[in-house]
Amino acid sequence: MTPSASSSTGPVIEAHSIVKKFGGAIAVDDVSIEVYPGEIHAVVGENGAGKSTLMRVLAGVHQQDSGSVIVDGVKLEGGAKESIDLGVSLVHQELSLVPEMTVAENILLGSAPTTLGFTNFSEMKNIARSALEEIGVSVDLDERISRLSVALRQFVEIARAVARKPKVLILDEPTATLTPAETDYLLEMLQRLAGRGMAIVYISHRIPEVFRICHNVTILRDGKRVSVTAVAESTPEGVVDQMVGRELKKDLGSHRDATPSDVVLKAEGIRAPSVDDVDLEVRAGEIVGLGGLVGAGRTEIVRAIIGADARKSGRVTITVDGKTRIISSYQSAIRAGVGYIPEERRVDGLALTMTVAENINLPNRKELSTAGFQQIKKIRTFAQRLAEQVGLRPPEIKREAGQYSGGNQQKIVIAKWLGRRPAVMVLDEPTRGVDVGAKAEIHRLIKELADQGTAVLIVSSDLPELLELSDTIHVVRDGKIQGSIGHQDATEKAVMSLASGEKLVGA
Ligand SMILES: Nc1ncnc2c1ncn2[C@@H]1O[C@H](COP(=O)(O)OP(=O)(O)OP(=O)(O)O)[C@@H](O)[C@H]1O
Ligand SMILES: [Mg+2]
Repeated sequence: MTPSASSSTGPVIEAHSIVKKFGGAIAVDDVSIEVYPGEIHAVVGENGAGKSTLMRVLAGVHQQDSGSVIVDGVKLEGGAKESIDLGVSLVHQELSLVPEMTVAENILLGSAPTTLGFTNFSEMKNIARSALEEIGVSVDLDERISRLSVALRQFVEIARAVARKPKVLILDEPTATLTPAETDYLLEMLQRLAGRGMAIVYISHRIPEVFRICHNVTILRDGKRVSVTAVAESTPEGVVDQMVGRELKKDLGSHRDATPSDVVLKAEGIRAPSVDDVDLEVRAGEIVGLGGLVGAGRTEIVRAIIGADARKSGRVTITVDGKTRIISSYQSAIRAGVGYIPEERRVDGLALTMTVAENINLPNRKELSTAGFQQIKKIRTFAQRLAEQVGLRPPEIKREAGQYSGGNQQKIVIAKWLGRRPAVMVLDEPTRGVDVGAKAEIHRLIKELADQGTAVLIVSSDLPELLELSDTIHVVRDGKIQGSIGHQDATEKAVMSLASGEKLVGA
């Protein structure tokens, strides 16, 4: 694939020697980038490398400390509004839609057309409709965002950026929440948009995507640009090595031999909205995976099991040391020893204004409130060790969680539970948005938890991850377990064919 970017026209966006500091820390350190019309330009790097910060500078969300951004020959003076007007649209790493508002309202958020100061609803719907058409996604304009799947929300988010008719479209990890099929769709859509001359800046931790659609790749490490090359002249291994600045250990990533013992978690006849008569068991020392497509009901199943959402019927018990407790609410699940890492971590899993140490110690807040000096010191050491184990960068436990990059925030939530050996650990998409090195580390920690006797229930759309970790995989479709596969027989094809309900060729 060669860049369709023609050398006869200049770059549509160029940033020169951007420096952005937060307090004393340099997030982006003298980085330049230029992107041409029709080009898809990847920006990759480990968690905390500075990708999102650089994009926020390009989109005028952050003001750089030095350096300049030029869009179509015009130098940006500052502010997101000016940047949008000049044709730069950013799809943020975290979903930023308003759940209580409709699809149309969200697409036009902040830029709704007005007639004499009143919002012009029919005009608004037209713009929203044509933006959705442009990206080829069909969704009811009057539907509330809260009722849409995560994947659809992601597409609405993109429609919102496209509605502004950008010359430069920046997407910060848009595929993190998507299934392989949805990802394919998105990648093809981006190629179409680029084919029409849009410049696209594409951030992803998934290197194969970069090699599929991007023309050039900028690699960041510790806030600095380590290289910019044509994708056609690079290899995936080379890119990863430059991202991490060392050779990645390749001995990680195999399935471990489990020796499960007694049943700890037992769910029978679970019914809830999007959950249809689910039975499952997890033994001490066992990792049970829930596979399936996004929207299949996996999150709903685990939430109903641990009482985070109400059930219509069914019974859940947790047995520890011969003592069986009935789980009737989330509170009772926590008391019985359940640790839960939710899918929507930023909403449910992390207190952004609290420090890393406070977040890591949230599960034993009670002990903390009565802790003496010695104990506090111990707790700090504990948090520090965990932060280092999950590869938090930088591992500064006194920093506010909100000051960390997206992937690092995930590591904080993981650290919170991994250190305390819960009887049951429930993880929903535990490594979404986490970089390659940290992902391997988190996998190791999850296996270690199981080896220490925790019953682990995991939801993952990342098939290699699901296959590597799970001793048994239950495949979910339409809120029901369609079939179960033991580790020996688990292949990507076997899972996908049950997940989609179609016999895949050769499966
Ligand atoms: N608002 C902020 N306040 C303080 N520091 C910040 C803030 N935003 C980002 N940082 C710091 O800037 C650095 C770069 O973060 P950034 O979010 O750009 O990383 P990233 O490459 O997007 O990572 P990820 O892959 O995890 O999304 C990190 O060290 C981060 O802690
Ligand atoms: Mg980021």
